[in-house]
Amino acid sequence: MTPPSPSNPAPKPWEHTKSGQGSAADPLAARFVSSLDYDKRLYTHDIQGSIAHARMLEHVKLITADDLKEIERGLNEIKSEIDEQGDAWPGWKVELEDVHMCIEAALIEKTGDAGRKLHTGRSRNDQVATDLVLWVNESYWEINKKYDALVEAFIGLADCVGHIVMPSYTHLQRAQPIVVGAELFAWLESLCECRRRLTMLTHEDVSPLGSGAIAGSSLPLDREFSAEALDISAVSTNSLYATASRDVAVDYAYSLAMTSMWLSRWAEQWIIYASTEFGFITLDDLYTTGSSMMPQKQNPDMLELIRGKTGLVYGSLMALLTVCKGLTIGYNRDLQEDKRHVFAAYDAVCDCLDMAARIVKTTKFNEDRIKQGLDKGFLDATSLAEYLVTKGVPFRTSHQVVGKLVQQCRDKGFEKLSLLKLDDFNAACTDSGSKPVAEQDIYDWLGPENVVKRYQSAGNAGLSGFQEQLKTWKERLGEADQPE
Ligand code: ARG
Repeated sequence: MTPPSPSNPAPKPWEHTKSGQGSAADPLAARFVSSLDYDKRLYTHDIQGSIAHARMLEHVKLITADDLKEIERGLNEIKSEIDEQGDAWPGWKVELEDVHMCIEAALIEKTGDAGRKLHTGRSRNDQVATDLVLWVNESYWEINKKYDALVEAFIGLADCVGHIVMPSYTHLQRAQPIVVGAELFAWLESLCECRRRLTMLTHEDVSPLGSGAIAGSSLPLDREFSAEALDISAVSTNSLYATASRDVAVDYAYSLAMTSMWLSRWAEQWIIYASTEFGFITLDDLYTTGSSMMPQKQNPDMLELIRGKTGLVYGSLMALLTVCKGLTIGYNRDLQEDKRHVFAAYDAVCDCLDMAARIVKTTKFNEDRIKQGLDKGFLDATSLAEYLVTKGVPFRTSHQVVGKLVQQCRDKGFEKLSLLKLDDFNAACTDSGSKPVAEQDIYDWLGPENVVKRYQSAGNAGLSGFQEQLKTWKERLGEADQPE
């Protein structure tokens, strides 16, 4: 037999073919079937899962205490080597297909028969499903820190500029006056909801380890034991579902997609606010870029990319759903593609959260500019209608009265309802069949500054609502700082 060489690689140790050759013999097939490129990043989780499995095997006496010692020594050595050498670790061999086989091969090289016993009662199918659960758990804590930083940045900004009165928009048309803080807290709340979703979806772990390839094992595996060693409180209850499902990845990607969706809406809003036409905010130079042709430009590219990366994140969710949709119950190799998508979505959202926190921390709200335009758009029209309601006018009638008054202002070239005389208000009332109820106090209900002080419903976007929310968010922030 000719010795293995790059042109004649050794067959994969787990392939027993008639020809003695296997999928390693065609380099394209070897590369095509390999997931090493992206599943390498699971090496710590894979080793963690293997140690738990080996401890269980020793516990049920399928391997000896000496075997376990050897296996743990070997796996710990491998972990240190990969920690140090990363991609340059010589154990990464594309012809071994994936992180699981590379680590097992290296372990066998180090420990001989002890290493050969590690895969007892296990398949890569339950192994990879377990690795994924462990990765999701760990990465959840990482991404959580990023949400925290952004939450803190929003609270800090709201504390500084939250009191500024600004217009709100529905249909991107001027609606009612609000304070800046209320809008900032809307973004904040959306993010916290995304994080809550992520927490809900990632905190009901079950361990697939011990489900084997599809049907479990005839060996006396103690699945609770290995789950406990992984700090997972429950074991999966059906070996087919446990090995065929990537629900963990899909749930994760869905929560990431929701985060992306909200970050994208925020980015769009601030891109508009940063335009010359609006001028509500000024982005820090660090987070704008120039144009290769137009020397004056300061483009909001970071915000645009936060918006743009949503495409990748949605794409990852769609890819995962599509990978799973045509599969029979049980493992199919298609499932190997799951990780590439969930990692891509996670990496993109992590970057976006980091970038968003920096942008929020450094952006200036231009109070004077916002103020200059406040009289445009009759932002106080609804407040006026509510004033009339307090004087006993049915809302539908008061809506009509104010509609007419706005029209009068437009005809007279007035920008503000407060330029009208008391008589004008009362004439409009009688015109619409209502009593002339307007009194001098009507002017306290007009003008954006007055209006934001008057909102009193819970959760309102005026001063009282903002103050209330600021208090709650600061308390929550304080709680988050407390050690558990
Ligand atoms: N790398 C594979 C994956 O990520 C491991 C499972 C391979 N299982 C198999 N029966 N060929 O899904």
